Amino acid sequence: MKKELVELKVNGRIHELAVEPSALLLDVLRRDLGLTGSKRACDDSSCGACTVLVDGVAMLSCTLLGASCAGSNITTIEGVSDHGSLAAIQKAYGDWGGAQCGYCTPGFVMTVKSLLAENPDPTEEDVRRALSSNLCRCTGYNQMYEAIRAAVAAEQKGIGAADR
Ligand code: FES
Ligand code: FES
Repeated sequence: MKKELVELKVNGRIHELAVEPSALLLDVLRRDLGLTGSKRACDDSSCGACTVLVDGVAMLSCTLLGASCAGSNITTIEGVSDHGSLAAIQKAYGDWGGAQCGYCTPGFVMTVKSLLAENPDPTEEDVRRALSSNLCRCTGYNQMYEAIRAAVAAEQKGIGAADR
């Protein structure tokens, strides 16, 4: 299939790429840009492991065409840290043991980032609703929710990466 030239802005950097019109954003990120933090863990858009932010909104990169994202700001897990310092949600995951195999973690982190950007003071129900499309088969969820609560508290106190 003939490739088309697209400009993708990923984690603040603009990339000019030749992509197949049918290439999924997840594959463009992983294969063409080497950003392998976003994961593929299902074949039917049901796990959330591939979640990235597109213009600040959590989206499944396995359901989007890469070419259709030209002109949008895409953020992947590789773009979440602040100049190499962990973001509050990443640090909280480490502190609370929110990840076991870690395969689902990038998707959860991106969904939480999107939620907190939209709603800095989410209720427990808000968090659970926002994360209802992200699946984890290892943790039993309790440590993850503890980590998310800690990250919400840290964000509310204004404890960013630069403060630690
Ligand atoms: S890989 Fe499972 S929802 Fe995208
Ligand atoms: S930590 Fe293994 S799937 Fe979530």
